[in-house]
Amino acid sequence: MRPHWNLFHDADEVAWAAAEIIGEMARHAIEQRGRFTLVLAGGSTPMAAYRLLREQAQEWSRWAFFFGDERCLPPFHPERNSVMAREALLDHLPLASHQVHEIPAELGPEKGAARYEPLVRNARPFDLVLLGLGEDGHTASLFPGQTHPPDRLVVPVHDAPKPPPERVSLNYGALAACRGLLFLVTGRAKRHALAEWRRGRPIPASRIPVSFRPEVLVDEAAWSE
Ligand code: 6PG
Repeated sequence: MRPHWNLFHDADEVAWAAAEIIGEMARHAIEQRGRFTLVLAGGSTPMAAYRLLREQAQEWSRWAFFFGDERCLPPFHPERNSVMAREALLDHLPLASHQVHEIPAELGPEKGAARYEPLVRNARPFDLVLLGLGEDGHTASLFPGQTHPPDRLVVPVHDAPKPPPERVSLNYGALAACRGLLFLVTGRAKRHALAEWRRGRPIPASRIPVSFRPEVLVDEAAWSE
């Protein structure tokens, strides 16, 4: 489904809007179902939104956090998505350890993916999946030109063009098993990928088979006329 494009002046405004949307969806999900399951995006773009989110008054005990992908690095390595998310958000919240489901990517791509698969299988559908966009159109750790068996929910990734080469990623189908899908896209470096997406070119970010229109929050620097 073609997304809704939401254009903002700059990355700060994108972060504000993202934190507001996540907070609102959480309140709604908790009201409806008593809990909120969120798949966190990696990379650097979501950090500002995570910092704003932690300031909100939320029933944090009813949240469950998952990851869309992880880099095969030791647990406390500064380049891990889990370390970024902990520093920007999770370590500032009153959470019990069972509420945070890190991908055990330190085990390597195959073992890490196999260990995370049953968790994802049981957690679906997620209330909200957050994703970024890479300069080549990748999202999570699903890269152009790389294929994965469609029946796998979580896949090992090798030779990723963005370092580190070894990763674990939720597959397209798992990312689509959600009630909401929100992309955060900021900065000039994303212009080409975003333009490809808007032209309807099949980039990984456009291939998540949801039955509704995903929301893309984008700033002017990434949006080219
Ligand atoms: C990762 C991410 C990846 C990221 C994009 C955008 O582990 O690298 O999951 O998919 O979202 O590469 O990265 P930036 O937000 O840093 O530009």
